[in-house]
Amino acid sequence: MIITCPKCAKTHKVNPDRLKPFAEAGKKTIMANCKSCKFKFPIELSSLMTPEEKPAGKQRQVGSVARKICITLSKGGVGKTTTSVNLGAGLALAGYKVLLVDTDTQGQSSYVLGKKPGAGLTELLTRELPISDCLTEARNNLWLLSGGKSLAGVKRIIDKKSFGAEFTLSEALSPLDNQFDFILIDTSPGWDQLIVNVLFYSTEVLVPVALEVMSLHGMSEFIKSLGAIQKYRNEVHLKYILPTFLDLRIKGPKMLYDQLKKLYPQQLCKPIRYNESLAEAPSFGKTIFEFAPGSTASEDYRILVRKVSENEFALRKKNSSIK
Ligand SMILES: Nc1ncnc2c1ncn2[C@@H]1O[C@H](COP(=O)(O)OP(=O)(O)OP(=O)(O)O)[C@@H](O)[C@H]1O
Ligand SMILES: [Mg+2]
Repeated sequence: MIITCPKCAKTHKVNPDRLKPFAEAGKKTIMANCKSCKFKFPIELSSLMTPEEKPAGKQRQVGSVARKICITLSKGGVGKTTTSVNLGAGLALAGYKVLLVDTDTQGQSSYVLGKKPGAGLTELLTRELPISDCLTEARNNLWLLSGGKSLAGVKRIIDKKSFGAEFTLSEALSPLDNQFDFILIDTSPGWDQLIVNVLFYSTEVLVPVALEVMSLHGMSEFIKSLGAIQKYRNEVHLKYILPTFLDLRIKGPKMLYDQLKKLYPQQLCKPIRYNESLAEAPSFGKTIFEFAPGSTASEDYRILVRKVSENEFALRKKNSSIK
């Protein structure tokens, strides 16, 4: 079996017989040491088991590194949190192991998921608590590192760092790299040191853009800022542009959508239509799949899950978890 180092991406062969004593002793994770770059990283023993030993269902590839996707746009109210939560929940329902990181001081991801975590991203970044105490299991396969007001203090700490400030988030999250299939990062509106950190951590960027002129303007401004980051970090790419609030009863949004299609044919995703269920679901602490599984919004987010997971079978069948 093969393990990939999350730092230098070098692959290493592992003899499964050497791992058996750890599994038999009840250990869930072991520390691996990359022979090339000497980086130490934790590996879940279950991810190293043979297919016969694994429980049924979709399994992660051995030692695979999570895809890190940030959902971001400086413009407020475009559907960043709604998309982060529902994309995360949909991927989790499809059997992927997902971590949702909320880097917003509004801390809305926990609210939308109906959770009140005692600790989250702040405690992880300030190293007040071990990682395991900062994570909240929000749903089966879906874990949350919550945001909230306390992140304002963290931003001040990052601002005061004399060097390496933009890597603060990457350093804190690196032990989680190979624990998940997807790490999704919800960001706050605006542009600050924490968003710069998110762009130095993520490899893929998903931009939700409400189909109205001001949001489109915000998107082109954001693309310029992303270009400035890419000069220093070329691993980060604008991968998805997700039109939101599509209302086909009005002419304007459809015209803007057609315009986006011409400008960004590669990145453009099928739009999320305007649907009141998306605005109602958070007050019940439910995802769209739980609140209105038969809605157009649920269908739109399933399509997004298939696109992002590159798995055309994801959430195709009426999954038993989606009532
Ligand atoms: N497709 C949609 N149809 C109807 N309402 C929606 C849709 N998408 C999101 N909403 C609602 O619009 C509001 C703004 O969405 P959301 O909070 O996801 O935006 P945001 O970009 O995260 O905002 P902020 O920049 O403040 O973090 C919320 O009340 C949400 O429930
Ligand atoms: Mg938000």
